[in-house]
Amino acid sequence: MMGEVVTLCQRDKLASGEAQRFDVAGHRIALVRIGEDFYAIGDRCSHANYSLSEGEVYPEDKEIECWKHGSTFSLETGEALSLPATKPVPVYEIVLEGDEVKVVLP
Ligand code: FES
Repeated sequence: MMGEVVTLCQRDKLASGEAQRFDVAGHRIALVRIGEDFYAIGDRCSHANYSLSEGEVYPEDKEIECWKHGSTFSLETGEALSLPATKPVPVYEIVLEGDEVKVVLP
């Protein structure tokens, strides 16, 4: 595995359907929990500097919506799925170890 593995939090910190922002080593990350799965994407909307973790999570579609202008992003690929955003946001690999949720920083 390439990159540095950093612990973000304990699993119980987030309920299913919740998102939370973490700032680690210069990366601004939106961590999202859906059921027992976690997703980590760049927290900065690719349209403007707004926090994706403050937007609504759509668990069934595995998407998060930017609260500012309504673009949705795939939690799996970071792809912008609706306008006005057109560029993807980064995706971070998740590592679950015991109760801890970790991400791999590139
Ligand atoms: S800032 Fe996110 S869609 Fe405009």
